[in-house]
Amino acid sequence: MDIEVVRSRFIKHFDGTTGSVYASPGRINLIGEHTDYNGGFVFPGAVDKGIVAEIKPNGKDKVCAYSIDLKDYVEFGLNEEDAPNASWARYIFGVCREMIKRGVDVKGFNTAFAGDVPLGAGMSSSAALESTYAYALNDLFGDNKIDKFELAKVGQATEHNYCGVKCGIMDQFASVFGKEGSLMRLDCRSMEYQYFPFKPEEYRLVLVDSVVKHELASSAYNKRRQSCENVVEAIKKTHPEVEFLRDCNMEMLNAVKAEVSEEDYKRAEYVIEEIQRVIDVCDALERSDYETVGQKMYETHYGMSKLYEVSCEELDFLNDVAFDCGVTGSRVMGGGFGGCTINLVKNELYETFISTVKERFTAKYGHSPKVYDVVISDGSRKLC
Ligand code: GLA
Repeated sequence: MDIEVVRSRFIKHFDGTTGSVYASPGRINLIGEHTDYNGGFVFPGAVDKGIVAEIKPNGKDKVCAYSIDLKDYVEFGLNEEDAPNASWARYIFGVCREMIKRGVDVKGFNTAFAGDVPLGAGMSSSAALESTYAYALNDLFGDNKIDKFELAKVGQATEHNYCGVKCGIMDQFASVFGKEGSLMRLDCRSMEYQYFPFKPEEYRLVLVDSVVKHELASSAYNKRRQSCENVVEAIKKTHPEVEFLRDCNMEMLNAVKAEVSEEDYKRAEYVIEEIQRVIDVCDALERSDYETVGQKMYETHYGMSKLYEVSCEELDFLNDVAFDCGVTGSRVMGGGFGGCTINLVKNELYETFISTVKERFTAKYGHSPKVYDVVISDGSRKLC
């Protein structure tokens, strides 16, 4: 992201002075999808694409915000009833409100921001936006007294309370805690995490973006979460200690098979298997066994497509092409319902895979997919 662009727009749009500049990245996730809100493991990393925002307190009690990419300007107050209509501005408003709820004395500010996380690609542009402002407000108005986990929770609570998505913690965690060259395994029950340096010599990670985004993704997402909670409720009757699907195994699930809907059963089956796959992938990585890593990625795709049902025709097609090309691992990444696949590709196969997937996808769907090489990067920070 070009900080000079943000700075020049900020100067032009406001009173000619400069403020402080902050940045936060989007994320990838190697494996562990829809496991975060089930108390399971995730394995994300921050990327080199993100949001950059310039911010300066304005001495008023309102926020004056300019989205450089959308060329849209919005003003809003800081009280609960001041929520703006523009969806991009609701993220900033939500972060302000959540910081205030945590005791930060947020005052009015001017801000301009821009981003290069592809929208709808499943790389979490919204978490990048939330983390940028959470980090910035903590620095500008909170003496940095809110810790990094709580900053991630501010972003998550913004989604829950102001944007209608009952998401887990993965995206905001990855954006705030990202570290160059390392993936992170987070246990979403205990919130313990570990950095895993990820620099395979013989492989590349590449995203293939279908550029398809299905409507109603957030209500379908919330519905998946509800299914998981239904199953937990049923299992709790005989296992009161159970809090999440993370605490369950297939035997416990099968014991309630007759009590839960067929759909809820399939959702829980996927989650229980997926939580185990993250552990298996970490073990495989410690042995540099990338073939196993790749195989688990294909298994995840199958589960997300057939059991959790968050894939779509275009993503299944991208997955099939990857398999046909001999790609080591491939799967739909993020929440699903469009977006991209993440692919673990041997160096020598890279060129053939990219040209084949572009050609075959374009022939079938009439538009080319986009390709992004993954560069694992640092998390939220102040630039100047
Ligand atoms: C979205 C949510 C995350 C997570 C993923 C699926 O990105 O924001 O919390 O649930 O979907 O793994």
